[in-house]
Amino acid sequence: MPKPAELVPPLLAWFAANARDLPWRRTRDPYAIWVSEVMLQQTQVRTVVPYWERWLRELPTVEALARAPLDRVFKLWEGLGYYTRARNLQRAAQVIVREHGGRFPRRFEDVLTLPGVGRYTAGAICSLAFNEPTPVLDGNVTRVLARVFGLRDDIRQPTVREHLWNLAGQLVNAVATRPKRGLAPRFRGRWARRVASRPCGALNEALMELGAAICTPRTPRCEECPVERNCVARRDGIAAELPRKNPAGSTRLQRVQAFLCMRRGRTLVRQRPASGVNAHLWELPNCAVTAEVSPLAAARELLGAGVLKVRHVMRVQHTITQSRIALDVYRIEFAPFARVPRAAGRWATRTALSRRAFAAAHRRILDHTTRGSSS
Ligand code: ADE
Repeated sequence: MPKPAELVPPLLAWFAANARDLPWRRTRDPYAIWVSEVMLQQTQVRTVVPYWERWLRELPTVEALARAPLDRVFKLWEGLGYYTRARNLQRAAQVIVREHGGRFPRRFEDVLTLPGVGRYTAGAICSLAFNEPTPVLDGNVTRVLARVFGLRDDIRQPTVREHLWNLAGQLVNAVATRPKRGLAPRFRGRWARRVASRPCGALNEALMELGAAICTPRTPRCEECPVERNCVARRDGIAAELPRKNPAGSTRLQRVQAFLCMRRGRTLVRQRPASGVNAHLWELPNCAVTAEVSPLAAARELLGAGVLKVRHVMRVQHTITQSRIALDVYRIEFAPFARVPRAAGRWATRTALSRRAFAAAHRRILDHTTRGSSS
């Protein structure tokens, strides 16, 4: 098994010269780093960059986020999904204002108590912003460590996860306790100064970056890896087989019918309740499908007896955590002068539709069906 201290110099040197130029790498503001880490939790780097830049432009400080109307926060988040992340960002900002006078806390234990902040996010913020030797373990880091240290057990097992956290901790601690300047190598490359000034953060990001760029899931590019010579999986020819994961419970399929009602250029939409999946977001009126109920009967139930006809216009498929959802969209034709119950929703103009934050699948439907039409 490789020794953590041997891995540190090649990882830092590789990061200094090869890491991508990502905007949050050019700041040491813990608020900006925190926002990037939360956005990156379920979303790819390429998608996150413009969202992060816009967010920091519009809500540049913890105070600005704490004070912003929730609708504005959601609008800035629209399209990233998993909106609880946005709600928790704002709640945490309010805690920081209330309990820390608006200054981002430095201590790992304090950061960890913020809403929505777990061990990974607290470790990332403290190491990247404050150079604390706090480990991180996400999917990329898990893969790198499982391969380098040759862990062949199922990484979903709690004991294996704990072992991985421990290895990540040993690595970042080896940075904090390594020989000081003079004995340590000089770094070269775009990020040399960053590595020299915040090496604990750089080590954590080196592991993430290696997992994203070189130590990839199916076909790792081992010839380009700075720790190829230290890697157990490479030595044993099993890099592409690790990490091992036993399949989790299979996903459920759920069917939903959504109704597109348009009148004089307005579209009927409703807001979801304040808790649960997609809380607060807007959507088209819809209901879960039960085998016995036809779309026409379901539409009349939601939208009143004035529904004359339903016409299928599209199907949208998406996945929320453990559920695969097939959403069938029906355009509604009403009888002349039909009354739609108030509880069904509100008639929104196109401007109002564009201002409100919609659940991702419903935004896709609107983009597809209301573009250029006004009937
Ligand atoms: N994924 C999670 N955190 C990241 C970071 N700081 N840079 C690049 N990818 C990441």
